[in-house]
Formats: sequence, C-alpha cells, structure tokens
Amino acid sequence: MLGANMNSRKPLIAGNWKMFKTCEEAVETARQLVKLVADDTVDVMIAPAFTSLMPVSDVVKGSCVALGAQNLFWEPEGAYTGEISSGMLVSAGCSYVIIGHSERRQYFGETDLTVNKKIKAAIKDNLMPVVCVGESEKERESNHTFSVLDKQVEKGLESLTLNDLETLIIAYEPIWAIGTGKTATSKQAQEVHKYLRLLIKKKFGNNLADSIRILYGGSVKPDNIKELMLMPDVDGALVGGASLKAETFSKIINFQI
Ligand code: 13P
Repeated sequence: MLGANMNSRKPLIAGNWKMFKTCEEAVETARQLVKLVADDTVDVMIAPAFTSLMPVSDVVKGSCVALGAQNLFWEPEGAYTGEISSGMLVSAGCSYVIIGHSERRQYFGETDLTVNKKIKAAIKDNLMPVVCVGESEKERESNHTFSVLDKQVEKGLESLTLNDLETLIIAYEPIWAIGTGKTATSKQAQEVHKYLRLLIKKKFGNNLADSIRILYGGSVKPDNIKELMLMPDVDGALVGGASLKAETFSKIINFQI
C-alpha cells in the first residue's frame, strides 16, 4: 500500500515548467498530457510560464489537469511594472500558485517575508499556494537543515489562521537535489517531511498536521517516484525537468499503476 493512500490526503503531482516552452510548445505538451491522464485518484497540476497560462487553460479545461502559476505579486493591482496579481492568475484559469521556490529566493531576492505576503494574497483569491521550503547543500552538511526549515515555516506562515491554511500545500525541495539528478533518498525525504508535519502540528494542531499535503521536489523521475510515495509523509511531488515531456510526466503521475 502506498504511503499517501493510508491517510485521507490525496496525492498531488505538480509540474513546474520554469522558464521553458513557448506558448505553442506549452499548448502541445498540455494537449498530450490531458490524453495521458485520466486517473482522478491523484491531483495533477502544471505550472507553465505566465505567457502560456491562458492558452493552456483552454486545453486543460474540463480535464483532470489543473493549472498553476509559478509566482505572483501580493498587491491586487497598481503601478508595479512586470508583476502579476492573484486576481489576474485566477482570471487566466489558475487554481494553484507556487510561492517561494528556491530559484526565486536565490535569483530574485525572495525572502520569508515576501513569501508570507504572497501566501496571504493567494489565499484571499482562493488560489491554493504551493509553498516551497528547503535547505542548501552547505546547510545540510553543517546540520542546519531543521533550523532552516523552522525559520522558513515560522516566518513564511506567520499570522496565518487555520482557515487560511486549509488549502495550503508545502513542497520540500532540498536545493542540492534540484536539477542535479541527486534525489534525496526516500528515507531522507521522509525524515524531513515528518519533521515538517510535526512543526505544523506544534504550530497549528493535529487536524491541520494530518490534512496538510507535503510534496517532495528535486530530481523526481519515473523511476524514483514509487519509492518516494511509499513514505507515509510524502503526499506527492513537485517535478521540474521530468514534467517537461508529457509521456515522462504521465509516468510519474501514474505511479500507482
Ligand atoms: P527538478 O525536478 O528538475 O530537479 O526540479 C525540481 C523543482 O525545482 C520543481 O519545482
């Protein structure tokens, strides 16, 4: 029996397409994916670039594939050149939004404070936030993994209520495993996921700790997804590179078959 199925948490397999694919390419991949995914025992989401959201939204409408964005800005509107609000994402067909990805923290100056503001904006517009946390290689090697996560969770989720957190999803993405081919072992992932669930329990109580979905991200592939999903606290995956081809991604989605 697979881990995530032993509880009430429905697995979520999400594809983060990062800065890949033109509109045409995104539409084509989404078309192929929709044909390959029929199983609604797993939630599926793809997050293309902003420019592809609208056309991809038309393709996935009515299918088992939901749409997500890779980022948002917290103000509803205004003179913020280059930014996109949660309302705009909803109107483009999004139901999810990835927040605080390590690439955004590393290259675009995101902090736990901006992550917190973005989560609040997303929730206000009923977007489900997929909030990324994770340590660097240096932090892991110096035994700081848990203290890094403590801070990211504490500050990132500051002043949010139980109600706010109902649809929030956490993605544990160890930075050293992203795009490196170096996956955390299922044991390493489980250790951290268990810790994160415990943190949620301490902060928000049993019910939320039991229901919150915690995804693993970092070099997830068709050949390691099963093992990861066997872990009791791994509720799905946030997939980068291996989500770019519909056939490969569908093998990850259909991990139970
Ligand atoms: P890879 O699957 O390419 O390692 O990327 C993981 C990731 O960053 C998903 O958000």
